[in-house]
Amino acid sequence: MRTKAHLTDQVTPLEQKNRALSYEAATEGIVLLSNDGVLPLQPCPVALYGSGVQNTIKGGSGSGEVNVRHTVTVQEGLEKAGFETLTGDWLARYDRSWKAGKEQFLRTYRRKMLRPSTDLLNELMEAEYRFPSGDVLRADELEACPTDTCIYVVSRQSGEGHDREDTAGSFRLDSTEEANIRLCAAHFAQFILIINAGAPIDLSPLDDIQGIRAVVYMGQLGMEGGHALAAMLTGQCTPSGKLAVSWPQRYSDVPWGEEFSRNPEKAWYREGIYVGYRYYDSFDVAPRYPFGFGLSYTSFIITHERTILKKETVTCTVRVTNSGSRYAGKEIVQVYVRCPGSDCEYQRLVAFGKTELLTPGCSQTLTLTFPVSALSHYDEAESVTYIASGRHLLQIGGSSRETEPVAVLDIPDRIVLSRHRPLCAADRPVSELRHSNTFTVPEGLPVLSVSPDDFTPRTFDYNVPDSLLSSNAAEAMNRLSIADRLRFCAGTGFKGEPKGFCTPGAVGHTTADYTALGIPNVELCDGPAGIRLERRAVQYPNGTIRALDVSISVYEFFPDWLLRLLVLGNPKKGQVLYQFVTGFPIEAVVAQTWNTSLAERIGRAVSEEMSEYGVTFWLSPALNIVRNPLCGRNFEYYSEDPFISGQMAAATTRGVQSVKGNYVTAKHFCANNQESYRHTVSSEVDERALREIYWKGFEMTVSESQPKAIMSAYNKLNGTYCSNHRELCTDLLRGEWAFDGIVMTDWYATGEDRADEVKALQAGVDLLMPGGKNVVKILAKAIAQGQLDEAAITRACRRVLHWIVP
Ligand code: BGC
Repeated sequence: MRTKAHLTDQVTPLEQKNRALSYEAATEGIVLLSNDGVLPLQPCPVALYGSGVQNTIKGGSGSGEVNVRHTVTVQEGLEKAGFETLTGDWLARYDRSWKAGKEQFLRTYRRKMLRPSTDLLNELMEAEYRFPSGDVLRADELEACPTDTCIYVVSRQSGEGHDREDTAGSFRLDSTEEANIRLCAAHFAQFILIINAGAPIDLSPLDDIQGIRAVVYMGQLGMEGGHALAAMLTGQCTPSGKLAVSWPQRYSDVPWGEEFSRNPEKAWYREGIYVGYRYYDSFDVAPRYPFGFGLSYTSFIITHERTILKKETVTCTVRVTNSGSRYAGKEIVQVYVRCPGSDCEYQRLVAFGKTELLTPGCSQTLTLTFPVSALSHYDEAESVTYIASGRHLLQIGGSSRETEPVAVLDIPDRIVLSRHRPLCAADRPVSELRHSNTFTVPEGLPVLSVSPDDFTPRTFDYNVPDSLLSSNAAEAMNRLSIADRLRFCAGTGFKGEPKGFCTPGAVGHTTADYTALGIPNVELCDGPAGIRLERRAVQYPNGTIRALDVSISVYEFFPDWLLRLLVLGNPKKGQVLYQFVTGFPIEAVVAQTWNTSLAERIGRAVSEEMSEYGVTFWLSPALNIVRNPLCGRNFEYYSEDPFISGQMAAATTRGVQSVKGNYVTAKHFCANNQESYRHTVSSEVDERALREIYWKGFEMTVSESQPKAIMSAYNKLNGTYCSNHRELCTDLLRGEWAFDGIVMTDWYATGEDRADEVKALQAGVDLLMPGGKNVVKILAKAIAQGQLDEAAITRACRRVLHWIVP
């Protein structure tokens, strides 16, 4: 096996450069939720408590884990910044109970590993070690602590394969956390609460606790988290992140929350388009912290200068001034539109922009542009995308609930933008909500009149033309028989082929059998918070490569002997290999930066690491909509809003694909909004909600940045597995969006009691992952028996070869 791994563990210049970028992204993604002026703080002796102080969580669990050289904890970051930890005893006790709890937790499952089964694997994916909250604090302990400053870090782990719960220790604070926070807030004059979680938690108990001076949503910040948090707390960096999801007051405020993740067969998307702030704003439910919200150490004045309309494009010019006197800072300006209509949301985000760092008194002009089509809706009865007639109100501000009306877009007549085929429709209507968006348009605003004549309705050709084929790929293709072509429609299993190229840690590989024809074996690796590789591996004299570390937490359940048998190698028996990559903040935090050029730079940085280690497809960005705060994988997704999700994913895609031959895989297409039962559940969604919410971000990414692969999701959509859904994988993706890349399945999405391999190829999937000999056999048999057309194989093979043959 060949590899590009390094032979020494020396820190590389690329590592240093990317770590600095990870730090920068982390500082921009932190959201300051409340602050009575206690922040920023001078470094001082400090009482540190809570589960996230030493075991700071850098990202969620499952395929999104990233193995890094070192993660900076909150304690380490604060101490490096000059704070002195006074609570070493409490923390040492915490550490012991954390380790003992973990051991106990693993032991239960290790015993079960003696009888491995698919069910057990699923159970392991669902198991999550819940961090203990530590000892209940006593007043005398606090008395003995010579400081008036306390930082309490609540952390929550979540991940792939299971959802969180509205219970203590999960979505809610547990009784120890609550009691400790209460005691500390009463005792310390400067009490600061930090949340180290990948998604919101219920902070309603704080309402009757006095003395909480500041609350910081740190999120999960990647490998530089502790440094970034310290920089923000001390004012070295002014916070400039804003929420990309709404924080409900409590779980009961989430629409149909009681049904979420309960039914293995059906998930009814009864709220339709009213997801996140679209629900809270329309139905007058006050969130605890609204979408787009985040505080700074300084203040800004946003002045609307003008809004102009040129044919299909609206451009708003605003001037942002740092009106504070002490701190430099960045402001995020958000543009919302209120569409008139008897069934539409209160407002929707249509544009945003972030300033550079502005020193006090300084200003910057931001130009925020959006197409008139951003006002559109989907009419299921007529299968058209249209803009309603009437006066649309543009509002601009620094948060979804702090905006000013600035202009009116007048649509004299309904404009039909495109005519579609109904796709993936539900058997019967699912949405149960309707919101009549009537509002008064303030006097005196500039009115921009949109001319319907500037628009010609688009129609689509659902007869998808043959995919592209480069001349090198065509040449290779001509030399392949059907049996050979088949080999490109499935990966070569989790491990790949011994004689091929190998990036230790890759989760997918194409075949190495055709390199003589100039067709390389390519590697696929996970994301989104970096690339998941083995940090250390060993290559034996016969060329095989084995990992040296447990690189994904599910392996922790394996007893040592099984790990040694199946996974780990012996460093003494071969050449040790090193691959140190960067752990970036989770996507949810990247979205909170509202900084698309930063997202693009992260994409570029990841891509440089892909080139360094020989990875062709990054299994990222993930852009499912955050539909419910309990979804275990929310940390891996950007937002409840399709526009910011699409913008972030498109930017990341641009960054990655700016390096020739490196590609993203946008995932998980689509409506994969819960983790529990993801292999069995059917997301029952109206077509309108699909088009306006769940498909929107993917559509934007395809049209703006042309990702070269899309991963179909595990779940069913309105009764059909996503990877067996022709309307999804072909009619929509290729017919309507002109997607010209590869459609691959999620890992083990096909098989017994899952989607069907043959139907997947027929539906327009090109690559079954991770594949393996059995999958190839199934396809070959289907061809032999006349159940699968050779043309489907040729089509899929063309698509794969076009992108992998250099
Ligand atoms: C996840 C994907 C991931 C794949 C490969 C699946 O379980 O859903 O997001 O890319 O595994 O690790």
